[in-house]
Amino acid sequence: MRIVVLTGAGISAESGVPTFRGKGGLWRRYDPKDLATPEAFERDPKLVWEWYDWRRGLIAKAEPSEAHKILAKLEKEKDLWVITQNVDGLHQRAGSKRVVELHGNIWRVRCVSCGVRYYDHRVPLEEIPPRCKECGGLLRPDVVWFGEALPQEALERAYELSLSAEIFLAVGTSAQVYPAAELPLIAKRSGAKLVEINPEETPLTPHADVSIRTGASEGLRRFFYTIIDGEGD
Ligand code: OAD
Repeated sequence: MRIVVLTGAGISAESGVPTFRGKGGLWRRYDPKDLATPEAFERDPKLVWEWYDWRRGLIAKAEPSEAHKILAKLEKEKDLWVITQNVDGLHQRAGSKRVVELHGNIWRVRCVSCGVRYYDHRVPLEEIPPRCKECGGLLRPDVVWFGEALPQEALERAYELSLSAEIFLAVGTSAQVYPAAELPLIAKRSGAKLVEINPEETPLTPHADVSIRTGASEGLRRFFYTIIDGEGD
């Protein structure tokens, strides 16, 4: 039975990484137009990098939550795949291998001149904005900004997985950002049972077969160890 899990910022909230929308969300304090668009980067790469360096610092201090760990453990036992909108790499740090990153990775950099991509885990960065180790060009975070296309390969894999899912779980996403937000609906239309785990209602709620109105760790524990296995844990 194929289980596909779409995760959003809510799963990392339990690791202490701020979400984007809602209470304490980053987009309440900052305007994405100033920090997360190609135009903002062109205008002021230093400002954009200072913000990303700050977020990298927060993420470096965070530990994978119980929710991340449950998914990593179940991947070894079930046909389970994660599609994430998160750029923090916490799924991989928890041990997940089958992860599709839709919005890139905050630890990877990309040269705007020569196009090379590589991981750079230094935090704080010594030089802001950082420079390419190959050609000396300007580096940018290898994440998807507003107005940019998602990485083609990741998106295609996400569609394939969604179409082949028998159970599709949407965990900790406000389901407001496309195309990620349409994946649960694609899965549902092709016959999957849709399960939502989120303390709040979202646009997905009316489509969900099961809504678990709680945090990610508690919700995943309940879903996998009570509903699926029919036993407590
Ligand atoms: P949002 O910040 O939009 O939504 C976070 C969701 O997590 C909300 O629905 C909350 O109710 C829920 N939530 C909060 N605490 C939770 C908890 N403990 N357990 C489970 N859920 C919880 O985050 P995303 O949906 O991931 O894009 O946002 C999607 C995209 O918007 C992000 O990837 C980012 C942003 O702009 C890019 O950077 C391209």
